[in-house]
Amino acid sequence: MTWEGWAHAVHLLGAMFWAGGMFFLVLVLMPIGRKVLPPKEYLALVHVVGRRFRNISWIVLPVVVATGVIKAARAVGSWEALGTTPYGRTLMWKMAAVTIALIIATAHDFWIGPRMTNSVREGASAATTVWRRWSRLSGLALLVLVLAILGLAVKLRMSYFE
Ligand code: HEM
Repeated sequence: MTWEGWAHAVHLLGAMFWAGGMFFLVLVLMPIGRKVLPPKEYLALVHVVGRRFRNISWIVLPVVVATGVIKAARAVGSWEALGTTPYGRTLMWKMAAVTIALIIATAHDFWIGPRMTNSVREGASAATTVWRRWSRLSGLALLVLVLAILGLAVKLRMSYFE
């Protein structure tokens, strides 16, 4: 396989881990954990699982971005084509969505999450309610953005068949 093929494979694996992991947490682990565990144990589980997922994600994400940029540079070819071809424009939308997603993920993982954990530990229920709301809101925004990024990735690939 060429180095480009490797870059594509690594990009796909990283994207799969990040997007798949996020959907697994929100659609499987959290609703089932909430149903079968007492609130304290549920929070402890979400805390440890979330922290592990975050730690691996922030190793995987730079790799996904780097391999994406390598592929993009090869596929588009020039700065001009980025703004003037349908492929280039889709790519710009994708990069914009990734940038916003990374900003929200940073806030969610390093600012909102730790504050929510602290407020739970300190027993500050009013603060916990506020941080939990922000955590849900930023998590939801991330899911929507990840869906958009995946949709744009498929659109990039579909452009080969147009
Ligand atoms: C700055 C960041 C990124 C850039 C520049 C980028 C760029 C690209 C490019 C150029 C392709 C190849 C499309 C083609 O076949 O022509 C691609 C494929 C893909 N990207 Fe990204 N990407 C980035 C981040 C992401 C992220 C964060 C995700 C996951 C949420 C993702 C998911 C995918 C998927 C699933 C494909 C496969 C599409 C296919 O081959 O059918 N990308 N990306």
